[in-house]
Amino acid sequence: MIREHLALDLAEARPGAAARLAGWVHRRRDHGGLIFIDLRDRSGLVQVVFDPKGDAQLHRQAEQLRSEFCVAVEGEVAPRPAGTENPKLPTGRVEVRARKLTILNPSPTPPFEIVEGAPLSEELRYTYRYLDLRREKPRRLMRLRHDIVQAMRRFLDQEQFLEIETPVLNKSTPEGARDFLVPSRLSPGKFYALPQSPQLFKQILMVAGAERYYQVARCFRDEDLRADRQPEFTQLDLELSFTDEEEIFSIMERLFAAIWQAVRGEKLPTPFPRLTYTEAMARYGTDKPDLRFGMELTELTELFRETGFKRFQEVIGAGGRVVGLAAPGGADFSRKDLDDLIQVAKSAGAGGLVPVQVTANGLVCPVLKHLGEEALQKAVAEARVPAGGLLLLAADRPRMAQAALGACRLELAKRLKLIPESGFRFLWVTEFPMFHYNEQEKRWEAEHHPFTAPFEADLPAMEKEPGKIRSRAYDLVINGVELGSGSIRIHRKETQEGVFRVLGIPEPEALDRFGFLLEAFRYGAPPHGGIAFGVDRLTALLGGADSIREVIPFPKTQKGIDLMVGSPTEVSSDQLKGLGLGLKKG
Ligand code: AMO
Repeated sequence: MIREHLALDLAEARPGAAARLAGWVHRRRDHGGLIFIDLRDRSGLVQVVFDPKGDAQLHRQAEQLRSEFCVAVEGEVAPRPAGTENPKLPTGRVEVRARKLTILNPSPTPPFEIVEGAPLSEELRYTYRYLDLRREKPRRLMRLRHDIVQAMRRFLDQEQFLEIETPVLNKSTPEGARDFLVPSRLSPGKFYALPQSPQLFKQILMVAGAERYYQVARCFRDEDLRADRQPEFTQLDLELSFTDEEEIFSIMERLFAAIWQAVRGEKLPTPFPRLTYTEAMARYGTDKPDLRFGMELTELTELFRETGFKRFQEVIGAGGRVVGLAAPGGADFSRKDLDDLIQVAKSAGAGGLVPVQVTANGLVCPVLKHLGEEALQKAVAEARVPAGGLLLLAADRPRMAQAALGACRLELAKRLKLIPESGFRFLWVTEFPMFHYNEQEKRWEAEHHPFTAPFEADLPAMEKEPGKIRSRAYDLVINGVELGSGSIRIHRKETQEGVFRVLGIPEPEALDRFGFLLEAFRYGAPPHGGIAFGVDRLTALLGGADSIREVIPFPKTQKGIDLMVGSPTEVSSDQLKGLGLGLKKG
C-alpha cells in the first residue's frame, strides 16, 4: 500500500501515531538544516520535517525535493514546537517527522506556482490545466460541482425520476443556435448534428410513457462565446407527463432547496417569487432581473405629454413611452460618466438618454429648458430620486426604453456598489411572449422553441396577432442570471400546426425536421412539460466564479479552443477522403 492516510486525517492524530502519506511537494523550505515540506494531497496540506540529526541518507534524499515532485512519506505524527503552529491549516498543530521518503516521480519546475492569488494568465492556466487543477480554488470548484450533481441525483431519484440517456450523434434540435455537425462515413454526404439539448428525445420519452425523466446532459451550441457560454455545457434536463407549471415550480424549488442544504447547509426560502415577463420588463427593464437591489423603473409618459421637447413629442405621438430610472447617487457624475451611461443605453438599442442630476444647486440636465423645470421636478418626485441622485429618462418604443434603462440599472448598481456580495435571489419569470419578430429576416420566431404551448385563452388570435400571444414558458433567474428555461409543451396536432404556420415552417419542412416527433404525437401523447438549467452556471454562481470556464474541468477559450489538447485541429486528407469530404482552398 503506497499510502494509508490523507493529510487531513492527521489533524487530530495523537502524537507518536504512524503516518503513511502520498502526494505532491507543495512547498519546500530549509531552516538551519531542517527541511520542511508541505505535502499536498486531495484533502489538503500537512507539514513533513526531515531532521539532519537523524538519518543522513534520508536527509540527502529530501534535499533533492522540489515543488510538485510526487512523493510517498512514512513517519510519525508529532505536535509542532510551541509558537510554530499554523492556525490557518486544519493540520496546523501537527507535523510528520519523516522516516522514509520515496520519490514516486520528479517534476520539472512548473510554469507557475501552485498557489492561490498569484496573477496568472488564462492562457498558461488552461494550457497546463492539470497543474491549475492542483490549486485549491479549482479543486474546491470541482468538488462543489460533484456535490451539486450528487444532490440533484439523490433528490430526483427520491422523486421517482428516471435518469435516461439520449443520443449525442443526433439531428438538429430546435433551440436555434448553430449546430456542430459530424460527417457520417457510412452515409457519405450526410451529417449528424450534436444536440443543442435533449429537447425532442425527452418529449418522445413522454410519449414512451417514461413520465418522469431527467439527464445530466451535455449540450453543444456553436454560438459566440461569453463568460457564461461555452460551446459544450451541461444541463440538468427534465421532463414530466400529466403536469403543469405549479408542479414543475414546486419540484424545482424543492430540488434547489435540497442543493442548498447539501452544499451550503442553508435553508432556502421557498416558494420563489414570480413575475410575468410584462411585469419584469416594466419594473426592471429585463426578463432576468437581479432582485438583490431595488432601483425599479417608473413610467413617466403622462408628465411629458405636453412637453416642448421634440424627441419626446415624437416618441409619445407614435405611441412610445417615457420611462425613468432613479439612482441613489450620481449627481456628481462627470460628463464622461454620463456619456458612458448613454453608450450603455445605445448598446441596448435605444436612441439615447436624458440625464437629470439632483444637485445641491438644483437640477442639472442638458435639455432642462426644453423639458421644463416643473415637469422635471415632478418626474424627480414621482421616481423618488433622492438628493444627490440621478434620474435617467428614456423615450422610445416601450420595450426599447425599458431595456435601455434595464442595462443602465445594472451598470449604475455596479458603479454605485449597490449589489450585495453574498446572498441569492431566485425568481420565476412567466408568461413570455410566444413569438418575436425578426426585423432583419422579416419573420416571426419562437421565443422559447416551437413546441412551447401558447396560453389556451390566446389561441384564437395566434395567427392574426402573433406578437400578442403569451406562452406557457418560464425562466428561473438567480441574481440576474438566467439559470434555466422550460415550458409546458404542445401536445395537440392542430396547435402545433398553427405554430408552424406562424413561424413560416411549411409542412414538408416541419415533417423533414421534426417528423418523428409529430408522428409520435399521434399515438396518444400525454400533456407534458419540463425545464433545463445550466449546471455550469449554477456551479459558478454557488462557487463565486466569474466565468463558467472556472467550473468546467477542461473548458474552451472565447475562440472555442482547448489550449491543452490543441483542438480543433486539421485532419489528414485521408480522413477527409474517407468521409467523402474535401476542403476548399483559400
Ligand atoms: P435553453 O436553451 O434556455 O433551454 O437552455 C437552458 C439553460 O442552459 C444553459 N445554457 C448554457 N450554459 C452554458 N453555455 C451555453 N452556451 C448555454 N446555453 C444554454 C442556461 C439556460 O438557461 N430544451 C430547452 C429547455 C426546455 O424547454 O426544457 C433548452 O435547452 O443556463
